[in-house]
Amino acid sequence: MIAIILGTRPEIIKMSPIIRACEALGEDYFTLHTGQHYSYDMDRAFFEDLELPEPRYNLDVGSGTHAEQTGRIMVGIEKILLEEKPKAVLVQGDTNTVLAGALAASKLHIKVGHVEAGLRSFDRRMPEEINRIVADHISNVLFPPTETAKKNLMVEGIPEEKIFVTGNTIADAVEQNLAIARRKNDLLQRLGLTSKGFFLVTAHRAENVDNRQRLEGILQGLKAIRNEFSLPIVFPMHPRTAKMVQAFGLSLDGICVTKPLGYLDFLQLEANARLVLTDSGGLQEESCILGVPCVTLRDNTERPETVEVGANVLAGTEPDVMLKCVEKMLALRRSWENPFGDGKAGERVVREVLRCL
Ligand code: UD1
Ligand code: UDP
Repeated sequence: MIAIILGTRPEIIKMSPIIRACEALGEDYFTLHTGQHYSYDMDRAFFEDLELPEPRYNLDVGSGTHAEQTGRIMVGIEKILLEEKPKAVLVQGDTNTVLAGALAASKLHIKVGHVEAGLRSFDRRMPEEINRIVADHISNVLFPPTETAKKNLMVEGIPEEKIFVTGNTIADAVEQNLAIARRKNDLLQRLGLTSKGFFLVTAHRAENVDNRQRLEGILQGLKAIRNEFSLPIVFPMHPRTAKMVQAFGLSLDGICVTKPLGYLDFLQLEANARLVLTDSGGLQEESCILGVPCVTLRDNTERPETVEVGANVLAGTEPDVMLKCVEKMLALRRSWENPFGDGKAGERVVREVLRCL
């Protein structure tokens, strides 16, 4: 039996193709939700949009400091793993849920598979970098999305026989949901937007939104971009960001802020955006897959493939650099290769886990 551990919005989305593959292959599995994300629009909305079965367990750990959150998740997961005795545990990505899940399982000598292994920003100030390095080094089987990610693992001494390049399950999720999003969805109309007539923005990284200067830089940059191009800026706002905008008393005038959107709504916006500005990992990948140019509001990225194919550029959070990067990306042709695979990563992961067992 396979235990699929997830806890945040991107994990629900990126694990959904693996859950579907388990169902299609008739595999015995269960889902364990840590409850790291818990607001309706960061959690339940995705189970509904993606029509995913209810998790068998939800630890409801909620928010906290890194140690509090990671510790609570480990304690909860250990109890369930001792009862259920799965043969393998799958974790995805780089969140505290992943760190805690991989640690708890490996100490019980349960095989750990890490989906989206091998990503590196080479910036250990990011909590995600610590989480992914630890998870990679204690996993028994690693599923990097690309050859670049595989190379990162091998440079760190992880044996090649543990590594299987699968593509990124986000490509599966886009393929499985884009047509449904287009068919079912009238969000563009509801927001009064036209295709390619707006910029789409997300930002939630701790190093950006918990830092007043960087968050202010992002908001000023967005206003400058709106003035320059006379196009609406749509910003579905992560709760962490909403909290910090309020705490710093910053103005959102001129920016069309919405609550976080469900996956079908969001895909619809992303596919129709003129350009995406973001610090999200998932958005750098998705916009690249969708053929929408991306300006990344960070100084580094663990998704270098997006920059290499010409779909993405690193801007940081200085307003004038953001503006220049938008101008640059809009002047480029929108044809590049999708480096994230053929949309069959989920099935590959499940088949490989079964083979390893
Ligand atoms: C987490 C991950 C990050 C990932 C992101 C995806 C870690 C260290 N960080 O960041 O890598 O990119 O999820 O979105 O694991 N909050 C709510 N409702 C929720 C969840 C959070 O209101 O459902 C608010 C709370 O005020 C909380 C804050 O957001 O304190 C941050 O939540 P947390 O899960 O700690 O980190 P994220 O910023 O969401
Ligand atoms: N997303 C969404 N609604 C939103 C913002 C993002 O459905 O309002 C999706 C997006 O399509 C992508 C994922 O959430 O698949 C990215 O999650 P997030 O940016 O929170 O985390 P990261 O990828 O940076 O870890």
